[in-house]
Amino acid sequence: MASPLLRLVVLFGGVSAEHDVSCVTAAHVLAAADRDKYELVPIGIAKNGTWLRNDKAIATLADGGELPDRLETAGTEVEPLAAIRGDLDASTITVVLPLLHGPHGEDGTIQGMLELFTVPYVGAGVLSSALCMDKAMAKIVAEQAGIPQCRWIEFRDGIDDPNTIVARAIDELGLPLFVKPANLGSSVGITKAHDASELDKSIDLALRYDDVVIIEESVTAREVEVAVLGNTAPEASVPGEILPGSEFYDYEDKYVTGAATLVIPADLPAEVTGEVRELAARSFTALRCAGMARVDFFYEAGGRGWLLNEVNTIPGFTPASMYPKLWEASGLSYPDLIDRLVTLALDNHRRRAGFSTEH
Ligand SMILES: Nc1ncnc2c1ncn2[C@@H]1O[C@H](COP(=O)(O)OP(=O)(O)O)[C@@H](O)[C@H]1O
Ligand SMILES: [Mg+2]
Repeated sequence: MASPLLRLVVLFGGVSAEHDVSCVTAAHVLAAADRDKYELVPIGIAKNGTWLRNDKAIATLADGGELPDRLETAGTEVEPLAAIRGDLDASTITVVLPLLHGPHGEDGTIQGMLELFTVPYVGAGVLSSALCMDKAMAKIVAEQAGIPQCRWIEFRDGIDDPNTIVARAIDELGLPLFVKPANLGSSVGITKAHDASELDKSIDLALRYDDVVIIEESVTAREVEVAVLGNTAPEASVPGEILPGSEFYDYEDKYVTGAATLVIPADLPAEVTGEVRELAARSFTALRCAGMARVDFFYEAGGRGWLLNEVNTIPGFTPASMYPKLWEASGLSYPDLIDRLVTLALDNHRRRAGFSTEH
């Protein structure tokens, strides 16, 4: 057995709407990670925020047994920092893999805690995580970097006048319109409004999740995603296309019916494929991503071409998810992808630890 082992702390579950997805992801990651290389430590965050080390899964892994398809957030209650640091044995290197989607996981909060205690972790840092989680701020930064996007306007509760924004949205962007809370994922709180009264209702719904709402023109386009991997010189995978099973790629489609179809690689001319891969890597850098991100686009054939939709810093990660599938189609297997992410986390950590604190 290779020695010393690297402790890989897999954080899963979490207090977001994507809790269940994360439990499934964790089971697959633990099953695929190389047990000769890693001491695997699954820590589930229950919906009430309690941190629980899954000792049952640890024992199963140690016995070479099979894990269930979905990991429970159950086990010994642990204090977060102590659980992450382990026994504080200085010779053991710990890397955290936060498989937490949405608020309190993908938004920079966990990343901030890990930064504070100088623990290496997979994926984007504090700023990039927060930026990519806030659809309005991400659009502003991407626009500044010259990345094409659909037209949109922002509504800030308590700051903007709703009647003015509704009239402006219809006037400037036309109907139908997409209305989204700025800070969420998994299509939660997103609706397509076909007239002014639906628009009012859509805004009210989005305001249940955040006090900033974005209103976008509805684009008629193909949905294409690219997986990006790396730090300062990111690589882009082949693109994949989503064929939604309903009117748009909604929560049901993603997690309940699973009616959407993934086409990998997307059937696109080579030149157009090259464009989106370059644009994905450029978006990753513009939004200060690190490690991994899935960059989602709309392709308006015969129109404006590529439009950035959003960047996900902790993409779905089951073997059936787009991100790992895109890498597989690009020649990188699921276990190798985990290794690459761990190496990138350590590289990023060492690079940042090397910055001077003197003046
Ligand atoms: N402006 C738009 N025009 C057309 N379809 C859209 C638009 N915005 C979102 N959609 C549809 O809604 C889905 C979810 O929106 P998205 O912005 O990706 O939110 P989430 O972060 O929840 O994934 C997209 O995958 C797409 O199917
Ligand atoms: Mg999306």
